[in-house]
Amino acid sequence: MSDVKKLAILPGDGIGPEVVAEAEKVLKKVEELFGHRFETSRGVFGGIAIDQYGTPLPEDTLAICKEADAVLLGAVGGPKWDNNPKETRPETGLLGIRKALGLFSNIRPAVIFDCLKEASTLKPEVLEGTDLIVVRELTGGSYFGEKFRRETENGQEAVDTCVYNVKEIERIVHQGFQIAQKRRKKLASVDKANVMETSRLWRETVNKIAPQYPDVELEHILVDNCAMQLLRRPASFDVIVTENMFGDILSDEAAMLTGSIGMLASASLGEGSFGLYEPVHGSAPDIAGQGIANPIATILSVALMLKLSFNYQEAGDSIERAVKNVLDAGHRTGDIAVDKSKALGTTAMGDLIVAAMTR
Ligand code: IPM
Ligand code: MG
Repeated sequence: MSDVKKLAILPGDGIGPEVVAEAEKVLKKVEELFGHRFETSRGVFGGIAIDQYGTPLPEDTLAICKEADAVLLGAVGGPKWDNNPKETRPETGLLGIRKALGLFSNIRPAVIFDCLKEASTLKPEVLEGTDLIVVRELTGGSYFGEKFRRETENGQEAVDTCVYNVKEIERIVHQGFQIAQKRRKKLASVDKANVMETSRLWRETVNKIAPQYPDVELEHILVDNCAMQLLRRPASFDVIVTENMFGDILSDEAAMLTGSIGMLASASLGEGSFGLYEPVHGSAPDIAGQGIANPIATILSVALMLKLSFNYQEAGDSIERAVKNVLDAGHRTGDIAVDKSKALGTTAMGDLIVAAMTR
């Protein structure tokens, strides 16, 4: 019998609660099969928290997260809050929780599921073998630098500052190298060192660290070129490490390569084993409440949590295996179905995955 792990569950907005409900069924099955124990607390976060408490990240929610060993997040946002001022936007809650929990590293794998190759907009021969991870710095850069407006003779002027110090760069770059060491041992460090001072410091820092990882093949690549090479030779990338804004953009591009954003999980990590896990996709307000959302990305986020935060390797594997078996057997939700008339709903997909889990 293992110790009890505390989970903070933040279902959020849109399809968030629907997909999180399926992930919770999977957690229950993990308890049954493996004897692990989870104690869950729910927090209100995102647009729903704005409606109920006037702020996207209420104190209580943050306190629940700080007490927990890991956080599972559904998705936040929706048109209802899109025109709100900055303080009462769901995105502000997302940035706030990342900073408050010290989650400086965002890990987004993009992997082609063989049986879903036809779902991508790219040719299958270009995609063959694509299996990469974007490691994105999450608490620095222009997202968190000073921002302000001022009056000038040409009208209002807006300023976003991009700031990085060596320590911030070092900790994320070490992570990139260490993840690469456990994979195909290739690291692409992405910057804009031909223009940005922060990028020049980034590249210098990467070069200073590189000798500590002689087994990893390092490539420096400019962000514009990387965006191009991701479409031209996606399979040649293993681990990509980059700053916050570049990582935001490239991780969306990488996710789209797979053609199945409803399948991709992500982790945001800090120091130690604590992490926040969430699907890469958003709250999909257009299909919310219809019971048709794909729960697989959230279910795979649970697998990632079990492996990265708790070191429950077998339980994580069992979830991933169950997902693969269900897909191999031809079951699909609407977003990945070729024949939409045969598409399964959210709970039916969750049930099949739970039923397919074995020790
Ligand atoms: C993401 C999102 C967020 C980001 C937005 C919603 C603030 O795009 O998680 O990638 O830019 O980080
Ligand atoms: Mg993004």
